[in-house]
Amino acid sequence: MIGRLNHVAIAVPDLEAAADQYRNALGAKVGPPQDEPDHGVTVIFIELPNTKIELLYPLGENSPINGFLAKNPSGGMHHICYEVDDIAAARDQLVETGARVLGTGEPKIGAHGKPVLFLHPKDFNGCLIELEEV
Ligand code: CO
Repeated sequence: MIGRLNHVAIAVPDLEAAADQYRNALGAKVGPPQDEPDHGVTVIFIELPNTKIELLYPLGENSPINGFLAKNPSGGMHHICYEVDDIAAARDQLVETGARVLGTGEPKIGAHGKPVLFLHPKDFNGCLIELEEV
């Protein structure tokens, strides 16, 4: 069911410093910051030859990233995103196996303008999983 690795997301305490590090020290192609009020984050995508890195920074007081950074003040890996062809079918199949979908269980529009949803990390070896329909 799952396809390509779409991105690995890293929560960062300083978005500009992290972007500069990827641009200058690592020589990566770094995109512009994008605010995503629906998800409570500002993101910067970094394009690698075979996947992307998503730098995540909190947007607003209720951002889900605030708690993560409180526990991990120097930042840390936040989630990985797999591509699927049909997000509703993927969700239904996973729910049948006992996996929990975060939030309402309905896909939201993600950073690439495509439907996404998140699966509970406790059901996936401690790793928060994002599915994105491509
Ligand atoms: Co993501």
